[in-house]
Formats: sequence, structure tokens, C-alpha cells
Amino acid sequence: MTIETIGVVGAGTMGSGIAQIAATAGLKIVLIDVTETALTRGMAALRSSLERLVAKNTIAAEVASATLARIDTSTDYQRLAEVDLVIEAATEQVELKRAILKQIEAVAKQHAIIATNTSSISITSLASNLADPSRCVGMHFFNPVPLMPLVEIIRGVQTSTETVDAIHELSRRLDKSPIGVKNSPGFVVNRILVPMINEAFFVLAEGVATAEEIDEGMRLGANHPIGPLALADLVGLDVCLAVLEVLAKDLGDQKYRACPLLRELVAAGRLGRKTRHGVYRYD
Ligand code: CAA
Repeated sequence: MTIETIGVVGAGTMGSGIAQIAATAGLKIVLIDVTETALTRGMAALRSSLERLVAKNTIAAEVASATLARIDTSTDYQRLAEVDLVIEAATEQVELKRAILKQIEAVAKQHAIIATNTSSISITSLASNLADPSRCVGMHFFNPVPLMPLVEIIRGVQTSTETVDAIHELSRRLDKSPIGVKNSPGFVVNRILVPMINEAFFVLAEGVATAEEIDEGMRLGANHPIGPLALADLVGLDVCLAVLEVLAKDLGDQKYRACPLLRELVAAGRLGRKTRHGVYRYD
């Protein structure tokens, strides 16, 4: 199973990052979203990331321009008929993802792999909606995609070994380090990371310390690169809440109950960096 062309569905933070690193690795990309506005925004983020990498001498300017030349954008799902692998990176909502995966399967080549970048939803359940669930797999990247080396490769009950092997091989081609994970709520990293972020919101809500002090505490006392509240802003408060809801529902344990303050900020539209206001302001 050779993968030379990839379709990425969703041009948000994750989708544009995935398109970028795959194009840098030499693959041809079709980036799909529902509106031209979303595609324009995604490509602007991608260009800015490439500029930062060039400025740091991580990649040459020619690599950045070759990366851009390998990416095509479209609002037409029919374009997915051309690709060997589709990576779905839409909003973290189960019904939306189910519908998108179905739409992908309707147009994709018979042997194309259908991967989802879900951060917590069951791969087994998402795959069960497809006519051929054996080619559905979880391929979970981390934010910011160009900098974070990990990919979790999640095998649903129905996922074939051939599919899993092809995604491991591709991840290494993308210069990422894959780990194999059994389908389970939140997989490995988010199962551990997001409850820690949630706890930081409880600590903040109880007035134990200010947001800055909580973040400084975890940076200086636990050697985290950024504090948990700044990380929530980077990941998106809505994404953190969605992960917690899956953990609480699927694992049925009260310890995953989302902090009311986190819910309140999401309800207010304070989603983090992407809305320029979360725990902190980004002006
Ligand atoms: N593309 C290219 N370069 C980028 C970038 C991007 N998207 N984002 C940041 N950078 C570069 C910056 O240009 C900067 O370069 P210089 O050092 O040359 O100035 C460098 O990275 C460091 O950036 P900053 O100075 O802005 O900030 P930082 O020192 O805090 O580093 C970070 C940024 C690497 C992201 C670091 O904060 C970090 O590792 N944070 C933790 C990230 C993390 O845990 N991610 C996982 C989240 S969980 C997830 O994603 C899963 C999920 O499903 C929810």
C-alpha cells in the first residue's frame, strides 16, 4: 500500500498543520473545507508556520515554496477520489465526524485508507458507520503539528493490520514518531493530559492561585514547556471540553467531570488562541 497523495478534510489548526508537514515530506495534498474562507484562513496559518521555520533555518526557503506548490485546496469532496489516504481533521463532534467519514468513503478509491485525527472519539464506533471499516484508523497528531514529534496510531476493533502498518510507515516518512494505541477513550496522551488541564481550571476557580502563578508553578516546578492554562489556550478550550465529555461518558468516572469554569469560558466563546481570548488575551 503506497501513499503518495493525501486528502486532508478540515483546514483548521490541525488540518492545516497536517497538510503542511505531509507536503514538506514530499506528498501531494488536497486540502478540503466547506468554505473558501476556511481554506484561506488555513493556508494563511500554514504560510506563517513555514515562514517561522525558514526564519529559524529549520527548513530552506526552497523547501517552503516546494511545500506550498504541493498543496491544492478545494471545497469539492469529489477531489478525494484522487488520493491514497484521507485524514479527517474536522471539529471534534461525533455526528459530524461520522457524516464526514461516510462522505469520504462514498468518493474515495476502493483501497484508500480513511484516517481520523479525532482526539478522543472511539475509532471502533466511527468505523462502524463505514461499509469497509477495516481501512479506518486513528491518526492523532499533536498541536502545533510542525513541532510535536508524536503521532498516536489507534487501531479500532475492525482496523486491518495492513492499514495500521501503512500508517506507521507513513508517520515515519512524515518525520514523526508513532506509537501504537488500542482504541480507548482519550487514547494515551489526552487521557492523561486533559484531566491535568481540567484540574488547573479547578485550582484557578477555587482561587488557589492566579492563572499566571498556576502556569509558572507547572513550568518551573514540573518542567512543562508551558503551563496547563496556556496549553488549554493553545489546544482550544472547546477541544479540552470535548475530550473531557468523552472521558466522562465512556469511562463513567466522576473524576473526569469538566470544571464549570471551563464550560463557562467555552459558552462565552473564549476558546483560546484561535479566538484571541481564552484564559489569557492574545491581542
Ligand atoms: N510552526 C512553526 N514554528 C512554530 C509554530 C508553528 N505552528 N509554533 C511555534 N513555533 C516556533 C516559534 O516560531 C518559536 O521559534 P523560535 O524559538 O525560533 O523563536 C518556537 O517555536 C518556540 O515558540 P514560542 O517562543 O512561541 O513558544 P514556546 O517556547 O512556548 O514553544 C511550543 C512553543 C513548542 C508549542 C511549546 O510551548 C510546547 O512544547 N508546548 C506544549 C505543546 C503541547 O503539549 N502540545 C500538545 C497539546 S495536546 C494535543 O495537541 C492533542 C489534542 O488532541 C488536544
